[in-house]
Amino acid sequence: MEKIQAKPDKKEIDGDYSNVSLRPLDPSDVDDVMVWVTDDKVSKYCSWDTYTSKDEAMNLIVDVIVPHPWFRAICLKGRPIGAILVKPNKGNESCRAEVGYHLASKYWGKGIATRAVKLVASTIFIEWPHLERLEALVDVDNMGSQRVLEKVGFKKEGVLRKYYLLKRRPIDMVMFSLLSSDPQFEISNELYRA
Ligand SMILES: CC(C)(COP(=O)(O)OP(=O)(O)OC[C@H]1O[C@@H](n2cnc3c(N)ncnc32)[C@H](O)[C@@H]1OP(=O)(O)O)[C@@H](O)C(=O)NCCC(=O)NCCS
Repeated sequence: MEKIQAKPDKKEIDGDYSNVSLRPLDPSDVDDVMVWVTDDKVSKYCSWDTYTSKDEAMNLIVDVIVPHPWFRAICLKGRPIGAILVKPNKGNESCRAEVGYHLASKYWGKGIATRAVKLVASTIFIEWPHLERLEALVDVDNMGSQRVLEKVGFKKEGVLRKYYLLKRRPIDMVMFSLLSSDPQFEISNELYRA
């Protein structure tokens, strides 16, 4: 499968975070996957509970990640440091899909998730031509994730009250969307095929 890669911006070059790319995960990546799935800071806003063993992480890769229709590692210099996925819908809801992402906490605040979401936003409408809308649902308290989506160009549509049970607690969620017809501003200019 083709690897897609983002050109660096100045912030990334300064911190040597220039080489962000996406690629499929496989069982040989289990040690890298363990870094973020065992981190409470990462799982806090995610539907899954923190993993506690390598066996659990391996089962995740084999049973969930590999068969998933669109699941990629976020890589820095080719090494997985997080993941990003797009969940498709069927039938009358097939015009929209939901993006989700998480990154090892060591790499937060360096623009990496923003680069990864831009890569997805700039390619998914080409890969899935039937797609009209890419959406993201974020906990109202997850300001970092909301900022990522704003930086990519997603539109904040509103707050869905008591929308989701996160770790058994009902939470309000912000709905964001990017349409295939939305201006892609700088995204397409920033990218090249590796
Ligand atoms: C959300 C997450 C992916 C962001 O990754 P990241 O690589 O740090 O994101 P970026 O560096 O590209 O951008 C983060 C932005 O949020 C801002 N930010 C971070 N925490 C913030 C906070 N508490 N309040 C306001 N802004 C915040 C940063 O300053 C940055 O914005 P800036 O570039 O304008 O300064 C990462 O924190 C993560 O994996 N969290 C756990 C999993 C998760 O929440 N996933 C999303 C579920 S919807």
